[in-house]
Amino acid sequence: MSLPVVVAVTGASGAVYAVRLLSILVRRLPGVHLTISESGKAVLASELGVEVDLAAFEPRVLFQVNGCRSEGHPLAAIRQDLEEASELANSRIRSYYHKDFMAPMASGSFLTGGMVICPCSGGTLSAVAHAASTNLIHRAADVHLKEGRPLILVPRETPLSTIQLENMKRCADAGAVVLPAMPGFYHGATTFLDLVDFVVARICDQLGIEHSLIRRWGD
Ligand SMILES: Cc1cc2nc3c(=O)[nH]c(=O)nc-3n(C[C@H](O)[C@H](O)[C@H](O)COP(=O)(O)O)c2cc1C
Repeated sequence: MSLPVVVAVTGASGAVYAVRLLSILVRRLPGVHLTISESGKAVLASELGVEVDLAAFEPRVLFQVNGCRSEGHPLAAIRQDLEEASELANSRIRSYYHKDFMAPMASGSFLTGGMVICPCSGGTLSAVAHAASTNLIHRAADVHLKEGRPLILVPRETPLSTIQLENMKRCADAGAVVLPAMPGFYHGATTFLDLVDFVVARICDQLGIEHSLIRRWGD
């Protein structure tokens, strides 16, 4: 795929899904357009020790996961992938401030291969479901829906209220793929990374991105 993919990181638990997804996309695609919400920044810091400066963002920082060089860290097995992604990040990822409505992704005339909101908070899910467009993430999602382009939402919440369930249905009815961060265990998962990769593999499948993250059922 030669068109860029838009990735938005919001403030639901599961920042590791975003980092793992971006580590794949950056090595497969020439262009990734990224935007991170304030709460997304807080979750990256609290869950992975990844400190980003949203106003002066350096994409390679995303892959500098605190402690992943030490044996026993849950992401130690993908240390090399993260290093490769870090080297490519500044040239392949273009980042936009989440309030910047002048960014290319805010317009339908900017062509993309699709958008992923990963993880997707209940707040962002609600904004997408109601076309609120109060920040760049909501606006870009709205654009993807109105243009009939792939929009993949990766919510993480449990249990779910009827409001959240209705918001998911509204988004799905409008054409989004609702892909909850809900890993399966049938592929022989034994590690934290296996569970992360299960979800990231399903996102890549939706985007048509080749990967070998998991063994497929029937293989
Ligand atoms: C550490 C942390 C974890 C959170 N986890 C979740 C979560 O799993 N799911 C969720 O919907 N919101 C979660 N929230 C709440 C959202 O971040 C909050 O609703 C925020 O307003 C969402 O804004 P955003 O969608 O612009 O990122 C969490 C917040 C923090 C600080």
